[in-house]
Amino acid sequence: MEIKKIGVIGAGQMGAGIAQVCAAIGKVVTLCDIKEEFVDNGIVTIKKNLERSVSKERISQHVMDETLSRISTSLLTTDLKNSDIVIEAIIEDVDIKKALFSDLGNICDPTTILASNTSSIPIGILAEASGRPSKVVGMHFMNPVPVMKLVEVIRATGTSDDTFDMTFKLAEDLHKVPVLVNDFPGFVSNRILLPMLNEAMFCVMEGVAEPEAIDTVMKLGMSHPMGPLTLADFIGLDTCLAIMEVLHKDLNDDKYRPCPLLEEMVKGGKLGKKSGEGFYKY
Ligand SMILES: NC(=O)c1ccc[n+]([C@@H]2O[C@H](COP(=O)([O-])OP(=O)(O)OC[C@H]3O[C@@H](n4cnc5c(N)ncnc54)[C@H](O)[C@@H]3O)[C@@H](O)[C@H]2O)c1
Repeated sequence: MEIKKIGVIGAGQMGAGIAQVCAAIGKVVTLCDIKEEFVDNGIVTIKKNLERSVSKERISQHVMDETLSRISTSLLTTDLKNSDIVIEAIIEDVDIKKALFSDLGNICDPTTILASNTSSIPIGILAEASGRPSKVVGMHFMNPVPVMKLVEVIRATGTSDDTFDMTFKLAEDLHKVPVLVNDFPGFVSNRILLPMLNEAMFCVMEGVAEPEAIDTVMKLGMSHPMGPLTLADFIGLDTCLAIMEVLHKDLNDDKYRPCPLLEEMVKGGKLGKKSGEGFYKY
């Protein structure tokens, strides 16, 4: 079966990017969130991205208009009933995601694939909540979605061959490079990346160096394109904390203890770029 209709839930930085790249290859996309202002913000982000591509002559105005015309918005998950695949990109909270997968399991056609873009939560937990484990898979895009090539495709114990193959092929059709990853907390990307970002935060907390100095060390010394604290601000400090909490709890090892400074910043509403302040001001 060819995937033609795609539902995306969560119109934040990841969901908007996913909706954009799907519409760009001709898929019909419904982008959902819980409030009108959130779906509107998602569409504004997509428009800005496409306008940038037009101004750089990477795409024509006609292609931009066609891409936008394939995206509709909704506040109702019931509108995703007939989707061939639903890609979930809501906040990184296991209870909220479980409730959504349970709803989707009831709402969507039995043939609909339910994919999660979670950064860390084991897919098996969401598969069980959905009541249709053979149709559930992880589809972990990187940020910013239109730019980054990698997609981790996570196969849980119950994921069927068909579900996995169709999701893997969709990632290829999106001009991404899919990589098979087994179902462990944080998968590969965030099992390795997040402890490094967390350690950079401990360096700030303990006064090893200022954020700018830490980022410079990693950029110039290790050839990282972006320093760890800038990257954490871009990911969102709330998302970073949620991932560290999953690694800490599910892998049951104190080496994944979230940095207290990270906890304090999230409590104080400093979420990084999206709130205007994190390790840097935006
Ligand atoms: N930020 C990153 O760099 C990154 C990278 C890869 C994966 N992820 C994962 O993608 C997901 C989304 O992250 P983000 O950075 O886009 O977050 P975000 O905060 O930018 O957006 C989340 C959106 O989900 C919406 N939402 C919350 N609960 C909902 C519900 N029940 N139904 C519908 N919409 C709901 C919110 O209103 C918000 O618009 C998370 O699971 C995150 O771990 C993030």
